[in-house]
Amino acid sequence: MNDKELVAIQAARHVKDDMTVGLGTGSTANYFIKELARRHREEGLRITAASSSVASALQATEQGLPLVALEHLGRIDLYVDGADEVTPRMALLKGRGYDLVREKLLARNSDMFIVLIDKSKLVSRLGEKFPIPAEVMPFAWQMVKASLEGLGASVSLRQNAAKDGWAITSHGSLVLDLEFKQHLDSSELNQLLNNVPGIVEHGVFNDLASAVFVADNGKVEEIWKN
Ligand code: A5P
Repeated sequence: MNDKELVAIQAARHVKDDMTVGLGTGSTANYFIKELARRHREEGLRITAASSSVASALQATEQGLPLVALEHLGRIDLYVDGADEVTPRMALLKGRGYDLVREKLLARNSDMFIVLIDKSKLVSRLGEKFPIPAEVMPFAWQMVKASLEGLGASVSLRQNAAKDGWAITSHGSLVLDLEFKQHLDSSELNQLLNNVPGIVEHGVFNDLASAVFVADNGKVEEIWKN
């Protein structure tokens, strides 16, 4: 069993009967979906799932998990997802899968948000290893780009996987990838990006995680927020 699978199985132990569970996106979240589906099938675990992306919805339906659309939900019990970077204060960088609106909605409106990573995702500040993604209204991208450049960022419009067009989110947004020349902490980044008109959502998840489960060579450490 690899570290991603190990940490996902540990998170699935926190799921109880009658919970509404938000399903994250990415390779670690896929292991969580697989284990949740196994518990549903083999142990009769009663849950309702809500997906953070088209990809996680497909995974869930293929494996027989009952799904409910976000518009029917006011709050959920638990959200479990991966992340690209995590700081010592449990700020997260997310969005390689770029469905940020749904991911942040689930993170913000869950009673518990568990983040699953391996040790390679631990960083001292957000943006250390990956650019910071921002979903933007398509007609606004040039203005948003200019605003962010004025605030010290280098900005590139994300290409699709085939590199023959632009990446489009499931809501039809474009994605800008940002690298700031100056070092900003996660709350400064969060505030700065929240204040730029035209940005629909961004990949800085500040003060949202309840716990980070870190896998390291076959062992899992659970770090819970005080
Ligand atoms: C989804 O948009 C991302 O934030 C993922 O959660 C993140 O990229 C982690 O992916 P892996 O679990 O595949 O490393």
